[in-house]
This record gives sequence, structure tokens and C-alpha cells, in this order.
Amino acid sequence: MRILVTGAAGYVGGHLINSLLQDEKFADYEIVGIDNFAVGKKENYDLIRKDSRVTLEYGDICDKGVKDFLKDVEIVYHLAAISGIAACNKYPEMALKINVEGTLNLLEHAARREVEYFIYPSSAAVYGEIDEVLATENLPLNPLNKYGAMKASCEALCKAYYNSHGLGTIILRFTNIYGVGTYPKWRTAVTNFIKRALSNENLVIHGSGEQKRDFIHIDDVIEIYKFIIKPQAKGEVFNAGSGYVASVKEVAEVVLKIAKKKGINVNIDFEKPRESKERTFGYDISKLRSLGFESKYNLEKGIEKTFNDIELIMNKGYGEFQKEI
Ligand SMILES: NC(=O)c1ccc[n+]([C@@H]2O[C@H](COP(=O)([O-])OP(=O)(O)OC[C@H]3O[C@@H](n4cnc5c(N)ncnc54)[C@H](O)[C@@H]3O)[C@@H](O)[C@H]2O)c1
Repeated sequence: MRILVTGAAGYVGGHLINSLLQDEKFADYEIVGIDNFAVGKKENYDLIRKDSRVTLEYGDICDKGVKDFLKDVEIVYHLAAISGIAACNKYPEMALKINVEGTLNLLEHAARREVEYFIYPSSAAVYGEIDEVLATENLPLNPLNKYGAMKASCEALCKAYYNSHGLGTIILRFTNIYGVGTYPKWRTAVTNFIKRALSNENLVIHGSGEQKRDFIHIDDVIEIYKFIIKPQAKGEVFNAGSGYVASVKEVAEVVLKIAKKKGINVNIDFEKPRESKERTFGYDISKLRSLGFESKYNLEKGIEKTFNDIELIMNKGYGEFQKEI
């Protein structure tokens, strides 16, 4: 039995492979990771656990040859993408090709190979603007940007392959992921605040900081990926968040509190908002919870772990990480 992870050199891919390798439940699987290294760096491979059960290779999800990686595969974690609003805005045509056509190519070959589970990471961006409403899975999709629109398109493709081919697609709509592990994404609010605090710089909030989001720790994200491999989840879509909505200001205040305990005294600077309208985002994860999932990290615990992890990385002075900071 094999698991295919596309986008294996990316942020989530590296975490997922490391976790699968350490999990008894997946002990009988060989893991095949592919990436085209467009975003994920080849060096990230070095951060993936060395294990004879894992192979990590160059592979492009847009190539027909991707079918060769699907031989004997039971579970596909399809993480390869041009990820994020900014990248999709900057390179819309390439993003469309990779995110939508690449997903279609993979779905087609996965269906032909009779893959059992096809896990697709969507995003809360498919909902668009939700003011003072709790986002539940059955809200109409109303993406505000190209990234959200491409996620919505891929969701529709996943549904179509479930309905017409019986492919076991499962859609997970993730919220704001934070945390380090194989490596951190520095541009997200939490890691950016921590990096600034550790550099003795004030944290910067664009706007009032009252805009709310559901922030989920990467370890919880990885648990969801493993947890969701269930027959009753096939053909379904799940909101995948922590279930706790916090304002950006609240996140910054937690970072300041942890920094203070470590003897670092910095403040918050408020700057002009980046978006024309500040969004409030309530996220209902009761459908995921009804299957038995509970997140392990509340905001404070997740931020404290991330703070300690980043401190370690910065103290060790890992060259690549420092450059990204
Ligand atoms: N990180 C988040 O906060 C978040 C939130 C919601 C959803 N997601 C989704 O989860 C998935 C993984 O996100 P991530 O944060 O790990 O992104 P990432 O950019 O770190 O990783 C994506 C990987 O895909 C690879 N890739 C790009 N084009 C490819 C192609 N044609 N063939 C093979 N590999 C290719 C890149 O090189 C990169 O390593 C994405 O679909 C993303 O949209 C992420």
C-alpha cells in the first residue's frame, strides 16, 4: 500500500510526511512524495525524516507522467499548488494551470487507478466575505480573489469525480495555519509577530486589529489529515479550523505576553489597513467534531510552542531560515 503526497517539499507536505512516518496507523504504507520545487526548496527534503519507506522525487502534477506515481496508491494527499492570495494574483495564468488543470490531471489519473482516498486542501477563502456569520459548510461560495476561486473550482472537480467515478474525494477547508516544524512560513501573522518580538522590534498590525480569524496550529492540521481517512468522510467537505476565532490584536497580545515572560519588551504599532474592508470570520467546525476530532492546541498553547520553536531556529542561526526572515 502506498500514499502519494504531492507538494511534498512544501510547508504542509514536509510536516505531513514526517508525521505519517511516525504514526503506527500508517506503518504499513510506503510514502511517495513528489514536488516540482517551484516553491518548496530542494533543501527541505533534508528536513524530512530519513526512512526507507519514503521516496521523494521530482514530479509535476501537470504532466501526464504523474500516473506512474499513482501505481498501487491508496491515499493521495494533494498539496501541490501555487498557494496563497498574493501568488495567485501575481501569476494568475500559471496558478490556474497548476492549481486547476494540475488538480484535474491528478484526479483523472487517480480515478483510473482506483485510488481509495483523495484528500484536497481547500481554504476558508472560498467563502469570501462573512460578516458576523458563522461559516458553515453549506454557505454559498463567494470567493473574493483568484486563490479562493481556484479552490472553489477544484472543490467542484473533486465533487464531480466523487459523483461520476466514485473517487473518495474529501475536501478540507483550512483556515489560517501557523507554526513551524520542518520550516516556518514567515509571512503569516503569528510567525511574523514572533520573529519581530525576537528581533526586539514592535509588532505591526495593519488596521484596527479587530478583524477576526480562526488560527490553527500546524500540528492540528496534520492530525486532521490523518484523522479524516474514514469511509464516511468520502464525498464530504469539512471546515478545518481550531474552532476558536481570535482577533489579530488578540494574537499579537498573546505574543507580547510570552515575549514579556522571556524578558522581551516590545509593543504594537498600528498601520494603515491592507484590505479595503476588514473581515470578521467565524468558523463552524462542528461537522469535523461530530466525527470525533478535537484540536490539541488552544491559541495560547499553539503560540507558545511556535515561539519556542522559532527561538530555537533563530538561536541556532540556520542559514536558510535567517535569509527568509
Ligand atoms: N498554508 C496554509 O495556510 C494553507 C491554508 C489553507 C489551504 N492550504 C493549501 O494546502 C496546500 C499546501 O499548502 P502549503 O502551505 O504547504 O504550500 P507550499 O507553497 O508551501 O507548498 C506547495 C508545494 O507545491 C509545489 N508545487 C507547485 N507546483 C507544482 C507542480 N506543478 N507539481 C508538483 N509540485 C508543485 C511547490 O514547489 C511547493 O513545494 C495548498 O493547496 C494550499 O493552498 C494551505
